[in-house]
Amino acid sequence: MMPPILRLGVRVGALCTLLTSSAGCRPESSALPPLPPKVDALTKPQPGEVRPLREAIVTWTAGVRGEVEACGCPTVPYGGLDRRARLLTALRRLDVPVFTLDAGDMLVKGTMARGDAERRERATVMLDLMRGLSLDAWAPSSADRVPGGPDLLQGTGAISATWPGFSGAVVLERGGFRLGVAGVAGGGEGDAVAAVSRAIKAAEGVQPADLWVLLANADRATQLRLARGLPGLGAILGEHDLEGGPVPVLGVPDRGRYVGILHVALGSAPGPLRVEEEGPLTHLAAQRLRVALSSDADWEGQQRLPSLRERVAGEGSGFNLAYVERRPLGSDLDGASVLDDRLARLRVDSTRAAQSRADTRPSGYVSGAACVRCHSDFFAAWSYSPHAQAFGSLIERKATTNPECLPCHTTGYGQPGGFGEPTTDNLSRFKAVQCEGCHGPLAGHPDTMGGGAAHRAPVEATCLECHDEANSPQFDYPRYLRGVSCVQVRLAREESTVPPTLK
Ligand code: HEC
Ligand code: HEC
Ligand code: HEC
Ligand code: HEC
Repeated sequence: MMPPILRLGVRVGALCTLLTSSAGCRPESSALPPLPPKVDALTKPQPGEVRPLREAIVTWTAGVRGEVEACGCPTVPYGGLDRRARLLTALRRLDVPVFTLDAGDMLVKGTMARGDAERRERATVMLDLMRGLSLDAWAPSSADRVPGGPDLLQGTGAISATWPGFSGAVVLERGGFRLGVAGVAGGGEGDAVAAVSRAIKAAEGVQPADLWVLLANADRATQLRLARGLPGLGAILGEHDLEGGPVPVLGVPDRGRYVGILHVALGSAPGPLRVEEEGPLTHLAAQRLRVALSSDADWEGQQRLPSLRERVAGEGSGFNLAYVERRPLGSDLDGASVLDDRLARLRVDSTRAAQSRADTRPSGYVSGAACVRCHSDFFAAWSYSPHAQAFGSLIERKATTNPECLPCHTTGYGQPGGFGEPTTDNLSRFKAVQCEGCHGPLAGHPDTMGGGAAHRAPVEATCLECHDEANSPQFDYPRYLRGVSCVQVRLAREESTVPPTLK
C-alpha cells in the first residue's frame, strides 16, 4: 500500500503575486528548513557513477466530457469510468507511486445536459465519481465552470494558474516521489506563461518537486507558448500531442476512452523528460503493466522486473526518461470496481429523476402505437428500421436499465409523458426510437394541429440530439437521412405511379 497522499496547495493571492517577481513566494508562517541548492541543468554522471532512480507513473485523461460509460457505438467501443477504476487499482498495486490527473473539459456532456440545472447535476455526479477514482489534481476548463462553479469545484483537486480563487500549482507527494502539478485553462485569460511560472515558484517555495508537469487545456498556439516559456517543465499534458517544442506536449484522446500513462524514471535534476519510443524503460513499463493486469499473481513476470529496472538505472542515469502509452479502456477491463456502489446509486437517482420529469403535466407523448391507424405505411416501414431496433441493441449490451444509454435508445426520455424508469409500462410504450423521437410529442394530433400542437419537422439538429460526435462519429446528414424509413416511404411514393391516396 502506498502511503497516503500529502497535499500542499498554494493559493496565489494578490500579495503573493506581487512578491513572486524575484524572491519567490512563501507563506509567512512556514517554518520549513532552507531549500537545498538547486541544479538547473541536466547533469551527466561521472563514468561508472550510477544515480538512484526516482520512478513514478502519472496517468491522465482529457476531454472526458461527462462520459461515464463505455461508448455503445461500434466504432470505438472503449471507455467507462468503471474500467478506468480497474486499471488504476491494478496500477496502484505496483511498487511505483501512481498519480491520477485530468486536463479538463471533464464534467459536462454536450448534448445530454441541456439547461443549467442539468449541467450542474452532471457535474456533481462526475465530481463524486472522480472522488471515487481518487483523482489527485485536475485543471478545469471554462466548460467545467458550471453555474455555482467555484463552490462546486473547491476541494476537488482543481488547480488553475489563471483563475482567481484557485491554487495554480500543487506538489503531491507519494511513495517518496514529489510530483509538481500546475494547471492552466484557456489561452485568453492574461499571460498564461507568467501565471504558471508564478504558481510553480510559489509552490516550490513550500516544497520542491522532483518533476513538474503542466495540465493544459489550451489551444495549440498557447501550448507551444507554454512549452517555450517554461523550459523547466517535465511535460505538458493535455488532449493533443504537439511536436517540436523544448518540452514534450503529450495528448490523450477525448471522451475518456483511453488513459494516458506516463512512466517516468528520473536520473537527473528537474527538467524536460526525454520521451523514448523504444528503450529500457519501454520494456520495464510493458512488463509492469502486464504484471499489474494479470488476474493471478504473475510471479515469473514480477521476477523479471528487478533486472529490467537495473537496465533503466544504468542506461538512464543522468537523464530524465519517460515512456508514454495511451491505454484503451476495452472489455478486458470489465468487472467489479471501486466505483460500483457510486454507479449503482447514480443509475437509481438518475432514472428516478427522469421519471419525475416524465410525470410532469401536461404529458405530451402518446407512443408510436397511436400512429398506426392513420399512417400505416410510415409505421410499417419504421418497424423494420434500425430505429425500431434501438432497444434491442441495449438488450444485447445488457444495458436496458442504464440511464447513460436510455436517452437515445428510447422515446421522450425524461420529457413530460415520455420514458422514465425502465418499468414494464414504460418499456411497452416507449422503448426504441419511435415516431415522436423525431417528430416531437404529438398528443392531440391531428385534432389540434391547426391550433398549434407541438409538432416539429425533423431537421439536422433533431438527429444530432442522439447522433452526437461520441455515439455516431460517422454521422453525415444527407447520407443518414436517406436511411430514415419515412424518407424511404416518401421516395417510394414519388417513384410509384399509383396515386398516393390509394396506398
Ligand atoms: C386520426 C388519424 C391520425 C393519427 C392517429 C395520427 N395522424 Fe399524423 N396526420 C394525420 C393527418 C390527417 C395529417 C395531415 C395530413 C396531411 O397533411 O398529409 C397528419 C400529418 C402528420 C404529419 C405530417 C405533418 C406535416 O407537417 O406535413 C406527421 C409527421 C404526422 N402526422 C405524424 C404522426 C405521428 C408521429 C402520429 C402518432 C403519434 C400521428 N401522426 C398520428 C392523421 C393522423
Ligand atoms: C432519439 C434518438 C435518435 C434520433 C432523434 C435520431 N436517431 Fe438515428 N439512430 C438512433 C439510434 C439509437 C440508432 C441505432 C439503432 C440501433 O440500435 O441499431 C440510430 C440509427 C440510425 C441509422 C442507421 C445507422 C446504421 O448504421 O444503419 C440512421 C440512418 C439514422 N439513425 C438516421 C437518423 C437521422 C437522419 C435522424 C434525424 C432525422 C435520426 N437518425 C434521429 C437514435 C436516434
Ligand atoms: C447520445 C445518444 C446515445 C447514447 C447516450 C447512447 N447511444 Fe447507442 N447509439 C446512438 C446512435 C445515434 C447510434 C447509431 C450510430 C450510427 O450508426 O451512426 C447508436 C448505436 C448503438 C449501438 C450499435 C447498434 C448497431 O448494431 O448498429 C449499440 C450496441 C449501442 N448504441 C449501445 C449503446 C449503449 C450500451 C449505450 C450506453 C452505454 C449507448 N448506446 C448510449 C446514440 C446513443
Ligand atoms: C429517425 C427520425 C424519424 C422517425 C423515427 C420517424 N420519422 Fe417520420 N419523418 C422523418 C423525416 C426526416 C421526415 C421528412 C421526410 C421527407 O420529407 O423526406 C418524416 C416525415 C414523416 C411524415 C410526413 C411525410 C410527408 O408527406 O411530408 C409522416 C406522416 C411521418 N413522418 C410519420 C412518421 C411515423 C408515423 C413514424 C413512426 C412510425 C415516424 N414518422 C418516425 C423522420 C422520422
